[in-house]
Amino acid sequence: MCDTVSIAIDGPAAAGKSTVARKVAHALTYIYVDTGAMYRALTLKTIKEGADLSSEEEVLEVLMKCDIQFEQTDEGQLVFINGEEITKEIRTDEVTRNVSAVSSYPEVRIEMVNRQQKMIAGQNVVMDGRDIGTKVIPEADLKIFMVASVEERARRRHEENTRSGYESDLEVLMEEIKRRDDIDSTRTASPLVKAKDAVEVDTTSLSIDNVVEQILDLVNERVNSR
Ligand code: DC
Repeated sequence: MCDTVSIAIDGPAAAGKSTVARKVAHALTYIYVDTGAMYRALTLKTIKEGADLSSEEEVLEVLMKCDIQFEQTDEGQLVFINGEEITKEIRTDEVTRNVSAVSSYPEVRIEMVNRQQKMIAGQNVVMDGRDIGTKVIPEADLKIFMVASVEERARRRHEENTRSGYESDLEVLMEEIKRRDDIDSTRTASPLVKAKDAVEVDTTSLSIDNVVEQILDLVNERVNSR
């Protein structure tokens, strides 16, 4: 029998997964793992090393020399690559523009999934990404597939950028989100798909707290009663 509990949250770019996943993890005192941050960290490192982003071989070579770590703090989750803190750097436009290509490489995905499975072994976890319920934790106790309209996702990201003092253009964001949706869902290696047994939550007209509540209710129903 497995004593640990795992919650998988998947969905397209900017659907609110990380914010919700972090809050759910906090409420349950589980660890939180943002797998998108791992693909972003690798993208950043590839750019910094001057390696060719369009070469799976070169990107994989960079990955094999990289140790990606997370540290949970009161201010949020910090991301490190080979000991260097890169939490903010992985959110730049340049990384966002290139991360879908990097995460489309099959060998890169195999290595990432492997690391993600090791990282959560024996722990209660909330993990978010694109392939968590289908590949990383197919046996997850609860799988959520979070969606929202493109317009709403762009609006939220725009608000977030403006609040954080980053330059932001709503139209550009909308196009970027559509482009990423397209690459993430049409790639051959683990495309973004809803797991058969996932619960779909459309967050378009819901607040973050509403979504968190819904998920905590589902955890109560499914996990705590098992
Ligand atoms: O969630 P995010 O926007 O930070 O993710 C960045 C990119 O990484 C996204 O375009 C798709 C990719 N990704 C993935 O392919 N598989 C995951 N488990 C997580 C993210």
